[in-house]
Amino acid sequence: MNNEPLLALRNARVRYPGAFEPVLENLDFELCTGQRVGLVGPNGSGKTSLLLTLVGLVSLDQGELLFQGRAVRTKADIAALRRTVGLVFQNPDDQLFSPTVLEDVAFGPLNLGCSQAEALERSLVLLHELNLAHLAHRQPHTLSGGQKRLISLAVVLVMQPSVLLLDEPTNDLDTRSRELVGRILANSSCTMVVASHDQALLASLTLRQFAMPAAS
Ligand SMILES: Nc1ncnc2c1ncn2[C@@H]1O[C@H](COP(=O)(O)OP(=O)(O)OP(=O)(O)O)[C@@H](O)[C@H]1O
Ligand SMILES: [Mg+2]
Repeated sequence: MNNEPLLALRNARVRYPGAFEPVLENLDFELCTGQRVGLVGPNGSGKTSLLLTLVGLVSLDQGELLFQGRAVRTKADIAALRRTVGLVFQNPDDQLFSPTVLEDVAFGPLNLGCSQAEALERSLVLLHELNLAHLAHRQPHTLSGGQKRLISLAVVLVMQPSVLLLDEPTNDLDTRSRELVGRILANSSCTMVVASHDQALLASLTLRQFAMPAAS
């Protein structure tokens, strides 16, 4: 395991437009290759904000985001980071926008330069592995909450990222689907950050927990 952080925040501060108090302040965070970190904290403590910051979807107003030891500043830096780091959003509706599930899953591989045939093949294989193939031709907005969550995981996994950021990946899932997601993540070789209130998932997956600092 390489000890230089793959992804890090140094002295980060994030304040949403119009908000008086910052949501993250003086925050240091490090993720090294091969680590699996559980992100824990009460509702509203900033877990989602931290994950969004780690992929450049929320910008810092102080401090630095480092990817492979280099500061992430430009759109090109963010694009390079996103080829390696995949985020599964807390709200699946933020991740699903195509007319069908299959097109949603194939969108990422197509964007990465795969041929149409290869993107569809990869997507169908993954949907089969996740027991979701029966949903391939459904419209994403007609799916149940749990089905949407599983598809949003597929949308990220199909791009084979080396780092997975997962925001409450077992919310809305029944026992069987929770176990399936737990197994998939446990068998994955990805470096991971998992924000979750699901202590069973965190205990089975992660060795280290990062507790969001309490609000001042
Ligand atoms: N786009 C936004 N604009 C303004 N405030 C926001 C925005 N997104 C989040 N917040 C606020 O930032 C704080 C942290 O929210 P965040 O979603 O990061 O918390 P969380 O730890 O993920 O919570 P949960 O466990 O409920 O998912 C909350 O007070 C929230 O209201
Ligand atoms: Mg959240």
